[in-house]
Amino acid sequence: MNTTLDFLVEKANEARNFSYSPYSEYKVGASLLCSDGTVYTGCNIENASYSATVCAERVAIFKAISDGKRDFKALCVVGGKGEKGDFAPPCGVCLQVISEFCSPDFTILLVSGGKTKSYTLANFLPNAFSASDIK
Ligand code: THU
Repeated sequence: MNTTLDFLVEKANEARNFSYSPYSEYKVGASLLCSDGTVYTGCNIENASYSATVCAERVAIFKAISDGKRDFKALCVVGGKGEKGDFAPPCGVCLQVISEFCSPDFTILLVSGGKTKSYTLANFLPNAFSASDIK
């Protein structure tokens, strides 16, 4: 798992370098490990009309979904202000999107300064609104 973790962190940091965040200067990168071993990345993409901004996590997930992927193992997030950033937890909208495709035990890794904090989706969103609520 360490090799995989290192690879995910590298990919998330690479994506973070592409962050388009002139308004917040809060740069986020995400890497999404699919069950088949492929990795999708995303960065946050801001807009002068702020609400049109998209988070790094959703960019990675939507790229994967639009490529036909449905099964995911882990999401790695790096981000924050400045060169090094800080632990950058997923926002509520991203958590809702993650919960559409991932089970409560899905792994979310926050990485900063060589340290990793490992969570499950359920840690962040314990009582998720889901398809079963509207059927
Ligand atoms: N952001 C993300 O990319 N992911 C999150 O889950 C939290 C917030 C971005 C959106 C915006 O570009 C910047 O961080 C500040 O909110």
